[in-house]
Amino acid sequence: MKYLFKLKTTILITGSLLLASNICFADGKPVTEQLVDSFTKLANGPHKGYRANHAKGVMAEGVFTPSPLASSISKAAHLQTKTSNIVVRFSNGTGIPDISDANPNANPKGIAIRFTLPDGTSTDIVSISINSFLASTPEEFLELLNAAAESGPQVAKPTPIDTFLGTHPAAVKFLSKRPSYASFATMPFYGVNAFKFTNSKGLVQYGRYQITPIAGLQTIGEEEAMRAQPNYLMDEIVSRLNKSEVKYRLALQMADEGDATNDSTVVWPDSRRVVELGVLTLKTSVPNSKQEEQKVMFNPLSIPEGINTSDDPILLARPISYAISYSRRLTN
Ligand code: HEM
Repeated sequence: MKYLFKLKTTILITGSLLLASNICFADGKPVTEQLVDSFTKLANGPHKGYRANHAKGVMAEGVFTPSPLASSISKAAHLQTKTSNIVVRFSNGTGIPDISDANPNANPKGIAIRFTLPDGTSTDIVSISINSFLASTPEEFLELLNAAAESGPQVAKPTPIDTFLGTHPAAVKFLSKRPSYASFATMPFYGVNAFKFTNSKGLVQYGRYQITPIAGLQTIGEEEAMRAQPNYLMDEIVSRLNKSEVKYRLALQMADEGDATNDSTVVWPDSRRVVELGVLTLKTSVPNSKQEEQKVMFNPLSIPEGINTSDDPILLARPISYAISYSRRLTN
């Protein structure tokens, strides 16, 4: 029961976001709901009990140890001195529950991390294995998903997705940088959306999360990926955790003056300062992962005092779509 979704908090967050953000309605439904519909259509769903996106996953647990620099960035409780318990869910992209881990469409992979805070509440980080997003706004993302749903081998060229990609270079770039990795333990993850961090002295800075495996990055080639078993990543992380811990460095890439904090298609230069926030240590897999992952909803805007949203419209839309997917997978 420890992963149970805090329904009241999320309704509050969702309600305030609906008021705060300019969510566009079309066909009588908000874009955030149409996005969930489109993910479901692309996955030939609904698939009972599964997420509309990142449907296939596996869970692990461990601890987060903040670095000495973390408290200079934010007064958030988990970034002070004490270690926090964490639960993590690794996932494949798409809403297809049995997609092969090696399928290029199962990229980006995801990592969702829930930190338990000293007062018993929690905060989440939800990141992907690519350092950018493929659309700047929910409306543009919906256009992309709908174009993909209307395309296919039988559709005359140029297909709707060919036409979309012809005018959206950020999406082309995203789709072209999807390497396969040897393990979830050798894969990087990126927060992509900017957040606003405030420290105890009132200093405000923007940053994007970076999660880097301490084992180092290890990709596999196309041929090896084609030979890989459909569950090679999900199985490997469980057997690796049976033998040893898996560690990642959690860091923040800091924005410089003028860096876009409202557009996750724009990658900030590598020259930006990166501050280490601490180390994530996974100790065990969750034995009844399939049941536990159905109960939990991670929420990138479940954030404590000391961390705030940016005005990235993709970030603001996410919790609403996630709550719609969550309520459907609980009831459908
Ligand atoms: C408007 C843009 C987006 C939409 C509409 C969207 C939609 C969704 C939906 C419907 C789910 C399933 C939620 C659930 O049932 O619990 C999901 C999960 C997920 N999304 Fe997104 N997403 C968006 C952007 C992003 C971005 C920018 C990232 C990462 C930077 C991301 C990473 C993930 C991950 C890792 C999961 C799996 C979480 C878990 O393990 O429970 N998404 N997304």
